Amino acid sequence: MSELGNFDGMFDLSGKVALVTGGSRGLGLHTATAFLRAGAKKVTISARKAGGAEGIDQAIERLNKLSGIKGRAVGVPANVSNQAEIQRLVQYVEKTEGKLDILVANAGATWGSKFEDAPDHSSAKILDLNVRGVFLLAQKFAPLLEASGTRQDPSRIIIVSSTAGKNVPHVGENGTIMYSVSKAAARNLAVELGPRNITTNVIAPGFFPSKLASGLIDRLGGTAELEEANPRKRLGEPEDIAGVMIFLCSPAGSYINGVDICVDGGMVLSTGRHSKL
Ligand SMILES: NC(=O)c1ccc[n+]([C@@H]2O[C@H](COP(=O)([O-])OP(=O)(O)OC[C@H]3O[C@@H](n4cnc5c(N)ncnc54)[C@H](OP(=O)(O)O)[C@@H]3O)[C@@H](O)[C@H]2O)c1
Repeated sequence: MSELGNFDGMFDLSGKVALVTGGSRGLGLHTATAFLRAGAKKVTISARKAGGAEGIDQAIERLNKLSGIKGRAVGVPANVSNQAEIQRLVQYVEKTEGKLDILVANAGATWGSKFEDAPDHSSAKILDLNVRGVFLLAQKFAPLLEASGTRQDPSRIIIVSSTAGKNVPHVGENGTIMYSVSKAAARNLAVELGPRNITTNVIAPGFFPSKLASGLIDRLGGTAELEEANPRKRLGEPEDIAGVMIFLCSPAGSYINGVDICVDGGMVLSTGRHSKL
């Protein structure tokens, strides 16, 4: 019989300090919820807006009311496509915790239009947030992540990418060419940071209803049509993101470094299928 050390704590995040960018709604809020419910000590969420129905403050209130949690959520407004604001986030975590166990680079921007109509500012916005911003977050937080990672229990970086980085999802009227380019950029860090006891993995979601995705879901024919096209006959749900985040950030995922996991029900494999055969 093999001994499985710490089997009971395999998916436990007790004592962990996490930062989730774009944590005020959508996938980032699902992630922050999952971390707290898995025992995290402190989850800092960040987004640009503090107030309002979709701002950080309402999310913090909801997170701290979750039943059975041991830790707490705090919010720090920051635009993570801006280097000075990323530095401010780093200083906050350094001052309050002195280390970071989990960094989730989740905030992202998209743009849908005809190829000819895409203005240069849309490309700048997407690349600044989805590529430059993610790189800067990893670069500037690396010392704090290194301060807490060990050989057996490395610190974790999770980059929320998209299945749109793996195929050519939308051209024509609602083309998302620059978004697709930006979501294909999340590699390299696993090899750079692995020796510093920091793992880096990518989660590539398919469609999850959210503010970012809902407009495109509607333009593509709506939820029912997209569900029908999906091999699992449904879109993504909060639990689907929670499961993969907990897996990659807990002891269960400590030896996984450099993977890129689609969370899409197998949809990306269906693209290009000759469905009439
Ligand atoms: N939902 C999907 O179907 C889907 C599919 C594939 C990939 N994704 C990826 O998943 C991630 C989250 O998307 P979502 O669907 O959850 O979107 P969402 O519901 O629109 O949430 C986006 C979050 O990012 C924040 N944010 C946006 N720009 C920011 C900036 N410059 N600095 C800091 N925070 C910023 C938003 O808050 P503020 O507006 O207040 O800043 C919000 O908290 C994105 O990277 C997206 O590309 C989503």
